[in-house]
Amino acid sequence: MEMTLAIIKPDGVARGLSGEIIGRLEREGINIFALKMIWMTKEQAKGFYKVHAGKPFYESVTDFMSSGPCVVMVLEGKEVINAYRKLMGATDYKEAAKGTIRHDYATDIEKNVVHGSDSPQSAAFEIAYFFNELEIFKR
Ligand code: CMP
Repeated sequence: MEMTLAIIKPDGVARGLSGEIIGRLEREGINIFALKMIWMTKEQAKGFYKVHAGKPFYESVTDFMSSGPCVVMVLEGKEVINAYRKLMGATDYKEAAKGTIRHDYATDIEKNVVHGSDSPQSAAFEIAYFFNELEIFKR
């Protein structure tokens, strides 16, 4: 079993898509081990996306991610990193497959509704960025 970090980004929360996205996870049989709402500061967003420091979109994506509340979740399941990435669809919504969250709801490469860790290493960093062990209710 694997764990990953999922975020419903400020655009998803503001548009009232949290319930729909959580419902898709539940229907897919993915376990939610932790869930909370947070509002990152610019500095916290920069720390979260530090792997992208120096890229052209770094300032803009960290402004966006600190512009409003997000829902952050720890997901668990067999090969959940890939399973959840499949549910999300491609980062660029124009390339996202039909029926994926980003295909159905994203409006922009930045306002792409959801985030998911891309590897076990980034999942470990990203989960620990938002949750301590006591907040993760493992079955
Ligand atoms: P995410 O999966 O959260 O990882 C980094 C985010 O930066 C990405 O989703 C997009 O929301 C945002 N972003 C903006 N422009 C780009 C780009 N050109 N390539 C990749 N990510 C981008």
